[in-house]
Amino acid sequence: MADNNSAHHAVERFEKIWIMLSLVLLVIFVSLVFYAVSIHGAHIGHAEPRQDPQKILAMPEFADPGVVQTGPNSYQVNMVAQAFSFIPGDIEVPEGAEVTFRMTSRDVIHGFQVRGTNINVELIPGDIASLTYTFDRPGEYLIICNQYCGVAHQNMLGKIHVGETDAEQVAGTDDEPAEAPAADAWMADAERAWNSQCAACHGRDGSGARGAFPPLADGHAPALVAGDGGREYLINVVLYGLAGAIEVDGVSYRGMMPGMARLSDEDIAAALNHSLHAWGNADELPDAFARVTSDEVAQQRDRGLSTGDVLEQRKALGLD
Ligand code: CUA
Repeated sequence: MADNNSAHHAVERFEKIWIMLSLVLLVIFVSLVFYAVSIHGAHIGHAEPRQDPQKILAMPEFADPGVVQTGPNSYQVNMVAQAFSFIPGDIEVPEGAEVTFRMTSRDVIHGFQVRGTNINVELIPGDIASLTYTFDRPGEYLIICNQYCGVAHQNMLGKIHVGETDAEQVAGTDDEPAEAPAADAWMADAERAWNSQCAACHGRDGSGARGAFPPLADGHAPALVAGDGGREYLINVVLYGLAGAIEVDGVSYRGMMPGMARLSDEDIAAALNHSLHAWGNADELPDAFARVTSDEVAQQRDRGLSTGDVLEQRKALGLD
């Protein structure tokens, strides 16, 4: 009987120790959360009430997504995620500016994680996710989709360029920069279209990514346009996308290009013209070359081509 009683007390003591231990652990975990939030701040995506996804996509900021300056030192990034790209996929904001992201998805659930920051939100069709962040260090930040969204999920990337601010720019001086000569005004639009729609995969310098996204620099875009049917092919590859292996300069590419028919005829023509003229490509163009026009793009719409049809068009160019 006495033995039984002391055994009982021993067990009770162990129980008390274990209860204390788990309480101490709980306190440690909760303090860690508060510590992390106080040091790094919390950027928890805040979702507005659910709506019809089509209604959201029809809202002006998502019908024409992009970066808008909303104040002397604040910007709003309106972004649409879709398989397998962020639109815009290449963003420029100044260092130290308050950047508000408003984002949604066009098709399935995507992730929006920005490397080197604690931004990490889920983009859900029918939801608008918003968050505000200030980039304190200049540099290039990688956006990654961290929700599996389909075959080319691993290629779903974007970039945020955070530029060093010169104080004048923020203060907003009245000295307007010298206007570019009118003859070359199209080039600025062309570059903007390229940087916002194509650069995330093919690079601002057109060099692409080995094995995934083919280069357009080094005369490759002019080589495409020089072939019979090359102009059509270039327009169609943007409108309808491309799937299947292709080869450029002996390197095989297996990326998947999504169709970008949602872009305007003007933007598609502009982005193509940038790829044809930038990076020294202008010198490689055929003599009789004229810039791609929005009318030409319009003519290729409603052909309802598949990515396979576009691949056949490319083969017909006889490049490989
Ligand atoms: Cu989008 Cu993974």
